[in-house]
Amino acid sequence: MSNNAPIGVFDSGIGGLTVVKELVKLMPGEDFIYFGDTARIPYGPRPKEQIIEFMHEILNFFVQRKVKMAVVACNTMTALGLEIARQQYPFTLVGVNAGVDLALSISKNKRVGVIATQATIASGKHARAVRAKDADAVVYPQACPQLVPLIESEHVKGSEIESAATEYLLPVKQAGVDVVILGCTHYPFVSQVIENIVGKGVTLINPARETAIDAYRILQQQDCLSTNKSGKVRLCFSADVEQAKKMAVYMLDTQQVDFELVNLQG
Ligand code: DGL
Repeated sequence: MSNNAPIGVFDSGIGGLTVVKELVKLMPGEDFIYFGDTARIPYGPRPKEQIIEFMHEILNFFVQRKVKMAVVACNTMTALGLEIARQQYPFTLVGVNAGVDLALSISKNKRVGVIATQATIASGKHARAVRAKDADAVVYPQACPQLVPLIESEHVKGSEIESAATEYLLPVKQAGVDVVILGCTHYPFVSQVIENIVGKGVTLINPARETAIDAYRILQQQDCLSTNKSGKVRLCFSADVEQAKKMAVYMLDTQQVDFELVNLQG
């Protein structure tokens, strides 16, 4: 695989752009192709088999686009599909970092909140990872099904997102956590709303930077880092490119970005 081949990054929608932001910051010389499955979002309430099937469709798209690596910028697909897909593609797969090491390094009372989609919470991935690192730590998991549809439709401020987030976050705050892992890549879009609910004493863990570092280290080990000084970013979506463009502005300098409508079935 050529060093200057692009890196694929994908999610069910715009959430993975929170990871693209960190990837571009850390590796400005790389080309990135992003795919957001906005035609079929949300994935979180879907059955496991379907989430895995969709993930394979996206990975086959990246085979056609000849990427050197694919970053699964979606906790739901990372939790349910990553291990199954790992050996099947001609490029390395990197999942979202669970944020557990960072959370435990910051937490003083070892009470860790985790917010994510229903499928991620049901997988128990974060809870297992926390317990494996520290048997004394206690995890408070909370599924937040309304947040992704609200964020996708640009309800990132205002009463709707505030009341949905309050319903989910208040019990987590009341459990006395001092860190909350944002276990869905969409949630950094509303970190200010979440911070206002949990208060300054609770640290929000956004694992996007750790995910970018994981990807960088693997490319470095494989001697596959780009030799270019500056790279290109192309954002592909399966529907609503105009809406995705609006949301991309929150994370990236879109003057420098190309957009494309991609129909996976076509
Ligand atoms: N952004 C995705 C994640 O990190 C999920 C969104 C969805 O439910 O589709 O889990």
